[in-house]
Amino acid sequence: MNNLGQKLLKKAQKIIPGGNQLLSKRSEMFLPGLWPTYYSSSVGCLVKDLNKKKYYDFAGMGVTSCILGYADKDINRAVINGLKKGSMSTLNAPEEFDLAKKLIEIHKWADMVRFSKSGGEACLIAIRIARAFSNKEKIAFCGYHGWHDWYMSANLENKKSLDNQLLPGLGNKGISKSFKNSIFAFEYNNIESLKKIFKKQKNKIGVVIMEPMRFTRPKDNFLKKVKDLSKKNGAILIFDEITSGFHENYGGLHLKFKVSPDMAIFGKALGNGYPISAVIGKKNIMDFAQRTFISSTMWTDRLGFIAGLSALKKMKKLKVQKKLVNIGRKIKKGWVLAANKNKIKISVGGLDSLPNFRFEYDNNKEISTFFTQEMLKLGFLAKEALAMTYVYNDKIIKKYFTAVNVVFNKINLINQKKIKFPLKGPIKHSTLKRITF
Ligand SMILES: Cc1ncc(COP(=O)(O)O)c(C=O)c1O
Repeated sequence: MNNLGQKLLKKAQKIIPGGNQLLSKRSEMFLPGLWPTYYSSSVGCLVKDLNKKKYYDFAGMGVTSCILGYADKDINRAVINGLKKGSMSTLNAPEEFDLAKKLIEIHKWADMVRFSKSGGEACLIAIRIARAFSNKEKIAFCGYHGWHDWYMSANLENKKSLDNQLLPGLGNKGISKSFKNSIFAFEYNNIESLKKIFKKQKNKIGVVIMEPMRFTRPKDNFLKKVKDLSKKNGAILIFDEITSGFHENYGGLHLKFKVSPDMAIFGKALGNGYPISAVIGKKNIMDFAQRTFISSTMWTDRLGFIAGLSALKKMKKLKVQKKLVNIGRKIKKGWVLAANKNKIKISVGGLDSLPNFRFEYDNNKEISTFFTQEMLKLGFLAKEALAMTYVYNDKIIKKYFTAVNVVFNKINLINQKKIKFPLKGPIKHSTLKRITF
């Protein structure tokens, strides 16, 4: 097949290390050698590749960022209007203030906001402010928080530190050895693992950063226990809501769990795919941003603020998160039904708005690759972790499950024959440990 996406990828890999900028969008994470890889347009939940083939996106909707769908008309209208009036200036954009105000209205415990563009950057800003405030350098973390040195340095002490948080076997070349012994991973839903870090590091941990939920729900008051333990030990608690924020409820997921941190970080869904990220926090802590230097030209770009404001307005008006949760529940139920009907073993998990399933077989990666391969043939970009979007409707979901049933049936038949899965290319690479994205 004349796969124009793969052809372009081969050329791109010669001048762009790895071929693109985000691991989670690499062709080899889905279907090595066969994935469409590039899009010519994406509107609603329909993606057109370079061969002009159309697919429904059931593979995360822009790495969880587009909960209102791709190319949302209202957001685009607001952004185009801002573009015409000038997206950059010597003066500041007033929408920066409006968006900050909105975020602290939604999160009553927070008083101040800083903005940036990407999630990883926002994490770095939060860490810098928290370290400045606590006057302690060491960090305890759980989950994924971007690519910056502070995070990657977890692997300097022990090459396996990030195996259960991000990816096994990550290299740590290029990261200063001087960061060694400054960041320590704790396990989700295991308060003892955090206690151990505090005990061993003897009053040197100044920051605890974590995703409020990963693929399992907090058990046994875990978030509250983390909050109390952090407070007792003089550490700032940061909830990284870059993926969890604005999916399950209007705001950070922590609002739903009724545990407020000292700081929280948002990105992705905040601008429905336009680059904007935010750090919110309590005034006494956020003020420490002024005792250090945190500053960037492109963080003043007007369009991210406008996209954020109009995304929030639309989410609130249409009660988007309620719909995302409802569709997610339907999808989870549909997976279970399809698996039972076709006699295959899966487990289902994740937030309702960010649901996932797993093929419960030793050759999981092989089956997962086959699933993506066969769903692609049927017109779906598909993997086992999804992000719900407002533009999914009953008709689209019905089509999706017709396809899922066809593929699950094939998986069952192949399993029964105990033969190898007929893959047209290599098995996909491991995705981020944190199953979702
Ligand atoms: C919880 C969390 N933190 C940080 C990041 C990094 O965000 P970005 O890719 O925008 O730098 C991500 C991205 O997946 C994330 O899910």
